[in-house]
This record gives sequence, structure tokens and C-alpha cells, in this order.
Amino acid sequence: MLLRIGIIFFLCYLIACSSSKKIANTGIIKADKTDSLAGLEFVKRSDCVTCHKIGEKFVGPAFTDIAKKYELNTDNLNKLSKKIITGGKSTWGKVPMIPHSLLSEEDAKAMVKYILLLKN
Ligand code: HEC
Repeated sequence: MLLRIGIIFFLCYLIACSSSKKIANTGIIKADKTDSLAGLEFVKRSDCVTCHKIGEKFVGPAFTDIAKKYELNTDNLNKLSKKIITGGKSTWGKVPMIPHSLLSEEDAKAMVKYILLLKN
């Protein structure tokens, strides 16, 4: 019985992997104002604004500069949301961004969508 459940999980995992790869290949993500507003809510509730401003460099890069640098596609969405959760440095300078390990990947992705949509 356990083995059967194991196999089913493994198959689901394979399917999930192959379908997310398909999305990654198509690239560009279409997001609209609703995504943007949802992300903004998360940003407001978190500590982002202690280091980031929308239009000018502060401790961290301006959100509009981040938006100019990255296209809103699956790769960047994954990469940046992971970086918000784990923290990191060296892309913009020596100052590191602290990790936000309590954020869910979904919430972090919503924030990235909000930020990258600022270029529109
Ligand atoms: C302690 C200050 C600080 C806080 C708080 C902070 N950031 Fe940052 N953030 C930075 C710094 C510094 C960088 C530049 C890191 C680098 O050079 O790689 C950065 C970079 C980024 C980047 C670009 C990463 C890249 O690789 O280009 C994104 C996106 C981002 N922050 C989003 C957020 C969000 C969303 C929050 C709130 C959950 C947040 N940050 C909170 C300091 C902070």
C-alpha cells in the first residue's frame, strides 16, 4: 500500500516537473493589475520598504531599477523570489539583502510580480 502511494507521488512529481519546464520554455508571464495589487499588499506587510524605495536607490536597489533589469518571465520569477526568501548579495553591490525565510514562495512570487510590473 505504502509503495503504491509512493509511486503515485513520484509520478505526480514527474508530471509537475515536466509541466513546469514547459512553462519555463515559453518564458514571458502575463500578469495584470490584480497581480500587481496583491504583490503590493505583501510588500506593505513585510519589511521591504525599510530597505527599498520605489523610484530611488536606498539600502537596496530601487524597485523601478529592478524592474528595468529583469523581464517578467518564469526564470526571473523563480530566481528573484528565491533570493527574497534566502537573501543574498553581489548583484547590485556589497550590501546583502537579509533572508525572509518565513515568506512562502507564493507570496514572494507575488512581490516579484508587483516589482517587475513597475516598469509598465
Ligand atoms: C535589510 C535590507 C533589505 C530588506 C529588508 C529587503 N531588501 Fe531586497 N535587497 C536589499 C539589497 C541590499 C539588495 C541588493 C542585493 C544584491 O546586490 O544582490 C536587494 C535586492 C532585492 C531584489 C533584487 C535581487 C537581484 O538579485 O537582483 C529584489 C527583487 C528585492 N530585493 C526584493 C525585496 C523584497 C520583496 C523585500 C521584502 C520582503 C526586500 N527586498 C527586503 C536589501 C533589502
